[in-house]
Amino acid sequence: MEQSSLVYGAVILLSGGIALLYTGLVLWSPPPIITHDSEKKYLSNASPTKPLPLTPLGDPSTVDLTIVVPAFNETERLPEMMRDTIKHLASAGLKSKRTYEILVVDDGSSDGTSATALQLAKKYPDSNIKVVTLEKNIGKGGAVRHGMLYGGGERLLMADADGASRIQDLEELWKSMDKIAPDNAPGMIVGSRAHLVKSEAVVRRSFLRNILMYGLHTILRIVGVGHIRDTQCGFKLFSRSAAQQIFPAQHLPTWIFDVELLLLAKQLRIPVAEVPIEWHEVAGSKLNVVTASVQMLRDLLIVRANHLLGRWTAYPAKQKSE
Ligand SMILES: *[C@@H]1O[C@H](CO)[C@@H](O)[C@H](O)[C@H]1NC(C)=O
Repeated sequence: MEQSSLVYGAVILLSGGIALLYTGLVLWSPPPIITHDSEKKYLSNASPTKPLPLTPLGDPSTVDLTIVVPAFNETERLPEMMRDTIKHLASAGLKSKRTYEILVVDDGSSDGTSATALQLAKKYPDSNIKVVTLEKNIGKGGAVRHGMLYGGGERLLMADADGASRIQDLEELWKSMDKIAPDNAPGMIVGSRAHLVKSEAVVRRSFLRNILMYGLHTILRIVGVGHIRDTQCGFKLFSRSAAQQIFPAQHLPTWIFDVELLLLAKQLRIPVAEVPIEWHEVAGSKLNVVTASVQMLRDLLIVRANHLLGRWTAYPAKQKSE
């Protein structure tokens, strides 16, 4: 009698605990990212006032390369980044053999980032700059995701608006993609600053940021992407077929989305390679280290739990031969 009521009590406590954890997970998980109709259209030099439809990721590619530039309050840094990017893409060696578009995703800025991007589109009329403006600020992860879901490139590069990476390094990522994912197969190449560790570039980074990096790495090993030495680098190249599988399954709009992308690639068995790139720390980073760490830990747990429970899933694309 006593024993059985103990068992009942334990069962009730346990199921109550599980229900509570599950409710917590549902409440803490970011809500689905909503795409507004206006965000499926872009402005450009050719059509500066009348929005034209973007290319959905499910459609066949329209250019060889899309560069997705998430931009939140970037009026100051965008012009320089754009100048360098266009200079490289329009250089003699590349101009004739690679078509491209640059998709600036204004993440609900309030400083006129879209207007600046449009001015740049006018300044470089041959460079196919498209400007899409999100109605509300959703975070870097959400902005990158949006640009990828509406990019027309056979390959899609995400690059930070602050120009911390050198666009010339794209060529190293490109070659690596040719190797691991020839013939438009799924592939993901991540730029890496890991080789810079202990060099001056990192020493100059603040002490707290270095601690955060080490802490992050330990957690990454636990969640299963410890083989990637630098997950947070904002310079990553995707083949269209990889992007088609990864980005619809991305849920995190925050800056920790890079890790979700890597977890998804792993789950989808998409080959990933890491390529060393140059980097210079740019002033004006908007990351608060302490809140960032807490957010990171929370988001990683959320991703892990949602996948374990099957609330979030990712499906490999069907093979063409089937
Ligand atoms: C973005 O820029 C606007 C205008 O300069 C400013 O009022 C706002 O505080 C900025 N937001 C952030 C988060 O930096």
